[in-house]
Amino acid sequence: MNDLDSEGRGVSGLQTHTVEVFDGKVWHRLTCRHGVNLRLLLLENDLSPYVPLTENLNCGGRGLCATCGIRFDGEAPTPEHWHDKAAARFGYPRLSCQIQVNRDLSVRLLPEKRIWGKRGKLESRRKGK
Ligand code: FES
Repeated sequence: MNDLDSEGRGVSGLQTHTVEVFDGKVWHRLTCRHGVNLRLLLLENDLSPYVPLTENLNCGGRGLCATCGIRFDGEAPTPEHWHDKAAARFGYPRLSCQIQVNRDLSVRLLPEKRIWGKRGKLESRRKGK
């Protein structure tokens, strides 16, 4: 969507957001409607949160397998789903399938992960509730 008004609304009047995604090599800039599921947005733009082993072996966005993990640059969205809350609390990658895009975000894919990704810095744990 390129035709946005001063409040970030597209031609249809729906609010839009920018999601910047680092794939491990370069940054991509995506624009999406308010409330879009982050996992689906990534997949639709060929920016998979999965690694080859889990591309077809995952729970399909049900919040069960944790293979769709990503990390945020800057302020992360507040987790809503129990599994994503646990990931945030203990510093593991956040579950992209359980995140709705409700504001601009900066996301890092984890191409180096084997399946789930490692525990990270305390930043997420302090914010996770
Ligand atoms: S796809 Fe399984 S937890 Fe996200």
